[in-house]
Amino acid sequence: MNDFLHLCAERRSVRRYSAELPSAADLQYIQDCVRLAPSAVNFQPILFRYLSTPEQLSRLWPCYNREWFQTAPACFIVYRNTQTEWVRRFDNKPHGDIDAAIAIEHLCLAAAERGLGTCWVCNYDPEALQAAFPAPEGHTAVALIPIGHPADEPKEKQRKALGDLFF
Ligand SMILES: Cc1cc2nc3c(=O)[nH]c(=O)nc-3n(C[C@H](O)[C@H](O)[C@H](O)COP(=O)(O)O)c2cc1C
Repeated sequence: MNDFLHLCAERRSVRRYSAELPSAADLQYIQDCVRLAPSAVNFQPILFRYLSTPEQLSRLWPCYNREWFQTAPACFIVYRNTQTEWVRRFDNKPHGDIDAAIAIEHLCLAAAERGLGTCWVCNYDPEALQAAFPAPEGHTAVALIPIGHPADEPKEKQRKALGDLFF
């Protein structure tokens, strides 16, 4: 059974989308996969805001000023809850970013399985995002995840050899 390896190999960062919104069934499936993501101490300090109206999206675009970003028919803002995330007491390292990253990758892989494209976006302007969409109390944005039907076929990116990753 190589299904998961195949899914990992087929997922791409998609940077061009068609106008069609993800279906309600696809969104439900993706949300179910996100909900099952592990988190430190099972604190689940994550929150997803889904933007899909033209008004919301046009307010979002200035936060990440790329032409391709404007082709996405919908986008998630992913937050970590800095009040409830687990903090390692030895060195006070907060783990909400890690929890959010795991949940986001569940989202991206679930979307890929349904034929949808996504792309992590962290290179947005955090101040502009906060002004356009104030974060819920106690939360900080971690990433934007545009989602939609791919309108092109991104090429496979090179990865390091196994020997460079594991020792
Ligand atoms: C934490 C993180 C942040 C990223 N931020 C951006 C971004 O701001 N803009 C962008 O176009 N791609 C962004 N990417 C996508 C990466 O460029 C992409 O995953 C990488 O080049 C590998 O390509 P692939 O996803 O198609 O395999 C980000 C990816 C990760 C994991």
